[in-house]
Amino acid sequence: MRGMKPIRTQHWNPQDYDRHARFVSDLGGVVLDLLAPQPGESILDLGCGDGALTEGLLAAGSRVIGVDASEQMVSAARARGIDARVVDAQSLPFEAQFDAVFSNAALHWMPGQTRVVAGVWRALRPGGRFVAEMGGAGNVASIVQALESGLAARGVRVVNPWFFPQPETYRALLESQGFAVTDIALFPRPTPLPGDVGDWIRTLAQPFLADLPDAERPAFLAEIIERLRPVLSDAQGRWHADYVRLRFRATKGGGESGESGERKAPANPAGAS
Ligand code: BEZ
Repeated sequence: MRGMKPIRTQHWNPQDYDRHARFVSDLGGVVLDLLAPQPGESILDLGCGDGALTEGLLAAGSRVIGVDASEQMVSAARARGIDARVVDAQSLPFEAQFDAVFSNAALHWMPGQTRVVAGVWRALRPGGRFVAEMGGAGNVASIVQALESGLAARGVRVVNPWFFPQPETYRALLESQGFAVTDIALFPRPTPLPGDVGDWIRTLAQPFLADLPDAERPAFLAEIIERLRPVLSDAQGRWHADYVRLRFRATKGGGESGESGERKAPANPAGAS
């Protein structure tokens, strides 16, 4: 990962998110299915955003706390009646109080993955499960490539905030913490966008634009849209993003499942910090 600094240049606006990124939570239902929340379970939603998926956990009869780094998104989640809190995922304050930790499309934003995974481990009861989906290796690669080369051509520093690991990297990270990884898979999921890739970048990729002067942004985005049109837009003008997902299920040993979860020697798998 790239250092431990929080990503200060991504501003989450619940209205923009609802308009341009609602598919993120809409497509997360399958991760809820993998978690299979049970009535009465205590669940942490890590990176809960505006709480759209957290509602699914509550609907299953679970008791849920949602955490997110964005005050705006936490406010939006609270407006849905969710117990949501602004929390730094690198310093999760929970001790053995959850049956499961759930996360959708959030882990790749979190610097300090080793600390995140350690905090999840602490937060879980013995036998608890960690079920998540995040961007994996190759995620939105054509968009990243276009942004990076476009910025480099303008002599602008590139700030790429994301960690899109290979499954072996994330498995090693989980196992070095002591988790038993029961499933982990990397797979492409081309994802239709409600608008064009410019809307996607303005909503979800703001750190790349951080060092670009305001006056240059419209021309830069127009250039990126044209560069990506032949790659990500079809003959009808419908856009998709080249998403690649990393989805996993891991357990903290010591519960009824009997799966091992012994702590191994600390390690720092490539790409994790
Ligand atoms: C993702 O879910 O893969 C993602 C979301 C926002 C920005 C980058 C990637």
